[in-house]
Amino acid sequence: MLEVHRLEAGYGPFQVISDVSLVVRPGEMVALLGPNGAGKTTLLKALMGLTWRRGKIVFQGKSIEHLPPHRIAHLGIAIVLEGRSLFPEMTVYENLLVGAYRPMARQRFKERLSEVYTLFPILKNREKQLAGTLSGGEQQMLAIARALMSAPKLLLVDEPTLGLAPRLGTELLRLLSNLKAEVPILLAEQNVALTLELADRVYVLEEGRVVLEGPAKDMLQDTRVRESYLGIR
Ligand SMILES: Nc1ncnc2c1ncn2[C@@H]1O[C@H](COP(=O)(O)OP(=O)(O)OP(=O)(O)O)[C@@H](O)[C@H]1O
Ligand SMILES: [Mg+2]
Repeated sequence: MLEVHRLEAGYGPFQVISDVSLVVRPGEMVALLGPNGAGKTTLLKALMGLTWRRGKIVFQGKSIEHLPPHRIAHLGIAIVLEGRSLFPEMTVYENLLVGAYRPMARQRFKERLSEVYTLFPILKNREKQLAGTLSGGEQQMLAIARALMSAPKLLLVDEPTLGLAPRLGTELLRLLSNLKAEVPILLAEQNVALTLELADRVYVLEEGRVVLEGPAKDMLQDTRVRESYLGIR
């Protein structure tokens, strides 16, 4: 459903991502692992048309690499960025309303809202609370919920567990993994153990290149791989 071939991406004169190829198939949760500065965020942004420089990006059979970000969003790719970028002075409900920017009938919006509230009951309880006053974990949930309001066909998520207590991080990643049948997910993560447990396949990035890729289960079992690339025993 997403095929990336020899992608290069960066900022102005700075090339960050070199020669990265990857695929995300229907029903999968695929993870990008790698240290700070490896290029995970830059890669996700390139898929939205923000940092792309060269290479092919095919989404549902259509080349999207020359499209501007809003066209890519309209095709059904949604991104949840690091830092969550919520509207802190707006309520939970208003933030969700903004998320439903794709043309949608009123009835469809109501259905979508109730689906999202079923996934995140805590948000329904806090519907009228200002987003800026939610806890870190609740804000992360709201950011994901808002992206889901547009009924995306592919969800990109940048470090969803960042800053969350371990238990909440685990819960959130489980929740994402439960969504993958409905919407495939490509996520950037730094929590290696959790990612290897819950993702289907993993790409390890170092200095903008893929240095290792494969099924998460295989990596979990390969001691050499775990020690040399992932820093866990
Ligand atoms: N706006 C920018 N202008 C120039 N360079 C940038 C910009 N944003 C990021 N970079 C550089 O691109 C490289 C990759 O950054 P990126 O944010 O993609 O890494 P990351 O893997 O997401 O790291 P982290 O795990 O810390 O979020 C870094 O060297 C960073 O300094
Ligand atoms: Mg990042």
